[in-house]
Amino acid sequence: MPHIIEMIDIIKDFPGIRANDRVTLQVEQGSIHALLGENGAGKSTLMSILFGLYQPDSGIIRVRGKEVAIHDPNVANELGIGMVHQHFQLVHNFTVTENIILGIEPRKGLVIDRKSAAARVRKISELYGLNVDPEAIIENISVGMQQRVEILKMLYRDAEILIFDEPTAVLTPQEIHELMHIMRRLVQEGKTVLLITHKLKEIKEVADQCTVLRRGKYIGTVPVAETSEARMAEMMVGREVNFHVQKKPAEPGDVLLRIECLNVRNPKGLLGVKNLSLEVRRGEILGVCGIDGNGQTELVQAITGLTPVESGKILLKGMDIAHVSVKERFSCGLGHIPEDRHKHGLVLDFRLDENLVVHNYNRKPFAQGFVLDFKSIRTNANRLIAEFDVRCGQGPATPTRSMSGGNQQKAIVAREIDLSPEVFIVAQPTRGLDVGAIEYIHTRIIAERDKGKAILLLSLELDEVLDVSDRIAVIYGGEIVGLVNASETDENELGLMMSGSIRKAV
Ligand SMILES: Nc1ncnc2c1ncn2[C@@H]1O[C@H](COP(=O)(O)OP(=O)(O)OP(=O)(O)O)[C@@H](O)[C@H]1O
Ligand SMILES: [Mg+2]
Repeated sequence: MPHIIEMIDIIKDFPGIRANDRVTLQVEQGSIHALLGENGAGKSTLMSILFGLYQPDSGIIRVRGKEVAIHDPNVANELGIGMVHQHFQLVHNFTVTENIILGIEPRKGLVIDRKSAAARVRKISELYGLNVDPEAIIENISVGMQQRVEILKMLYRDAEILIFDEPTAVLTPQEIHELMHIMRRLVQEGKTVLLITHKLKEIKEVADQCTVLRRGKYIGTVPVAETSEARMAEMMVGREVNFHVQKKPAEPGDVLLRIECLNVRNPKGLLGVKNLSLEVRRGEILGVCGIDGNGQTELVQAITGLTPVESGKILLKGMDIAHVSVKERFSCGLGHIPEDRHKHGLVLDFRLDENLVVHNYNRKPFAQGFVLDFKSIRTNANRLIAEFDVRCGQGPATPTRSMSGGNQQKAIVAREIDLSPEVFIVAQPTRGLDVGAIEYIHTRIIAERDKGKAILLLSLELDEVLDVSDRIAVIYGGEIVGLVNASETDENELGLMMSGSIRKAV
């Protein structure tokens, strides 16, 4: 098979860091090629170079055997290269078709020919089994569907090489399954797929080849069918990885968080959480699992005070906090790792050290009266950077926006775990993290448990819920339909409860 893409000896420097250090990537036409590497290894940078968003400092790029200079994304488009970004770039009150033809509207005389555009969208959608309604308004369709619109946008522009940067991070297991199917369809039709993912299972499932990067360097390219997950993990991290965390049985104490008959409305005005009750004890981790959109977000937002409570109680160490301010809740011992790192987690325009003290910059040791103590703010950042292995080019002074997605996530997790709250609401803590980082974060969450904290863990990753939790509550349609011991259940049983097929309480 000829190489449709060749990137040879690519170097890309950013302030304080060589993001790509003589990286080579050779991609066969008609294959699915995975890109694997730790957070900050340089995967997104390499793909941004291929898509013309960054210029390499040196190196050669060949597309279909011909050397090219990809000055900007327009050149990439002309070469048939398309990219689906992690944050979709869709206009929410436009239809699917309007979004797809944006910027390249087909015309009949002076009027835009929406009809023929819609027909073409429908045809492409059918060919690849995308199942997208060309007339639907973006804000009314699911995240998974929005992603397909982005895929359609590339196909509509005749892209031959499709780059996906962590496409499954925001999808439900069902949607992931469907996306894998779509990718296979794409290569059957002669397209080439480049896939960045941290999930080895996904690589095993769909990819033909896998290229591994570590700290900006090229480690190797392996045929996926002949390489184990453990081997790929080892290549990327440089050591063996424990996929399952070690933990002692829980020693639960008194109840620190008790939720009684909670009702919460969702943005549509319907009850997202219905008459929900649960309790979390000191020294235990209660995992909550469910298919995305079954009330998890409303539950977290109600506990942390981001959404008003319709009725019911939230008792923190016996005190009802259901109607007190966010600030008061946190001063009573509540802590929170938010699921949306951009909305509630980080201020991207701040420096890393500033983001690491957003909760306590006005207190000792970070402030003396009204005066900030920059030295202790920096020391704090250096300590967390080392403990959590946050990769950042310029240390404490790194602009947060310039950090890789996974390292931004590590920064939030570091900040919140370090506060060591008594009642800890942990939502999607390892989204976008590499396997090594996941291993470490899990260990730290369990260490908090063993210090006697009460932890409520929400995750869409079943493996994570099963591995880390002591007990598991299953949420379906805003209600708890199952409550089981983690050691006495499995993916199958959880799946049945998550789809509302069975109920169970021990
Ligand atoms: N625009 C930028 N300015 C400065 N530094 C940058 C910029 N983009 C990336 N970097 C740095 O380059 C390095 C590689 O980042 P990149 O985003 O490519 O990593 P990644 O492999 O995609 O990681 P992740 O798995 O966390 O997404 C990181 O250390 C990051 O801080
Ligand atoms: Mg990335």
